[in-house]
Amino acid sequence: TFVVTENCIKCKYTDCVDVCPVDCFHEGPNFLVIDPDECIDCTLCEPECPAEAIFSEDDLPDEQMEFLQINEELSRVWPVISEKKDALPDAEEWDGKSNKTPLLER
Ligand code: SF4
Ligand code: F3S
Repeated sequence: TFVVTENCIKCKYTDCVDVCPVDCFHEGPNFLVIDPDECIDCTLCEPECPAEAIFSEDDLPDEQMEFLQINEELSRVWPVISEKKDALPDAEEWDGKSNKTPLLER
């Protein structure tokens, strides 16, 4: 499966959503997650993310491991998003900032 990681938080560019053939993205207030049961590993979303926040679970950096669980858990409760929308207003400012995980709104 593919996994959305920390750098999506407070950016939420949503370019990833437009290319996914199976609508596996789910949307929260300031983050998106991928439903691991729906993802078909097509790889299309990974290069689309301007924040480089999407990884294959096989390439997931060690410090982003907790996002496996976060994607699985929140995809159960957040609604599907299937069309691109505007990024969050301060997306550029937050892109690349470290320690954003505590800012994830559920
Ligand atoms: Fe969707 Fe493909 Fe990305 Fe999986 S790898 S989330 S199927 S675009
Ligand atoms: Fe997030 Fe990147 Fe998609 S910032 S919303 S994973 S395009």
